Amino acid sequence: MRIGLIGAGNMARAMARGWGEPVLCSDSGSGRARALVGELGGEVLSNREVAERADLVVLCHKPYQLEPVASEIRDAAKAVASVLGATTTAMLQSAYPDTPVFAMMPNTPVEIRRGIVIYAERPPSAIAGHPPADPELERTVLELFGRLGEVIRLPEGQLDAATALTGVTPAYYALLAEAQVDAGVRHGLKPDVAGRLVAEAMGGSAALLAERGYDTLAMRREVTSPGGSTARGLAELERAGVRTAFQSAIDAVVRPQAGAAR
Ligand SMILES: NC(=O)c1ccc[n+]([C@@H]2O[C@H](COP(=O)([O-])OP(=O)(O)OC[C@H]3O[C@@H](n4cnc5c(N)ncnc54)[C@H](OP(=O)(O)O)[C@@H]3O)[C@@H](O)[C@H]2O)c1
Repeated sequence: MRIGLIGAGNMARAMARGWGEPVLCSDSGSGRARALVGELGGEVLSNREVAERADLVVLCHKPYQLEPVASEIRDAAKAVASVLGATTTAMLQSAYPDTPVFAMMPNTPVEIRRGIVIYAERPPSAIAGHPPADPELERTVLELFGRLGEVIRLPEGQLDAATALTGVTPAYYALLAEAQVDAGVRHGLKPDVAGRLVAEAMGGSAALLAERGYDTLAMRREVTSPGGSTARGLAELERAGVRTAFQSAIDAVVRPQAGAAR
């Protein structure tokens, strides 16, 4: 399946690197498409040419560009996958009335094939008469995104909440790592050593959490001796309001109306 990327920004680049193949791509003139083609091979094309040449167009522009881009390519695109935030299947169907559409939500670790890609199941509110995806096409698209990490199917009403836990996590973990690295440096560690220690500890902890069936309490108890150093550290995090901070951050990301149709 030949993929064509509309947009060559952060998410397009992460996915293209994850797929690791020459790309057909466009941009709006920044030169990022040229840079991506320089790295992976392929061709810089107009939006229209991308749609004509690709079997699957992946929309990687900003959400507010849905309509102007669709007006250029809707009659040429054979199938469309979107990674646009805050863009429902119904909005995609309305922009591409005669084309099968797939709403996907990846995060940047797709670049190293450790991403989460949330696939919004076609909701009952799908526009009547819009062509349902041929099962074979859907299977191929899911396999394609599956090469970038784990694909998780969810009802579309849960997409915002799920994205608030996955799409933003690289930024949250970068912030947490930075805070820990700074603290380590204050206590005499070199920044690169501290960075490596924190990143490896994060990666290992995430893998262990999966191994423990995502039981956070069990994992926390294993390293928290009564009256010990971890207990003292955790108490400081609680005093600083770490739980409330994460709750508020997630509330700020999830759009208010998402709660209605989970
Ligand atoms: N970044 C993430 O972690 C993340 C996660 C999940 C989903 N997303 C979604 O991915 C999409 C892209 O995000 P991003 O972070 O990659 O943004 P970005 O870095 O700003 O990239 C947007 C790209 O779209 C191109 N573009 C803009 N208008 C265009 C047009 N009319 N025709 C063709 N290309 C056009 C831009 O061109 P120029 O290079 O010329 O400016 C740029 O290459 C967004 O819809 C976002 O919601 C992002």
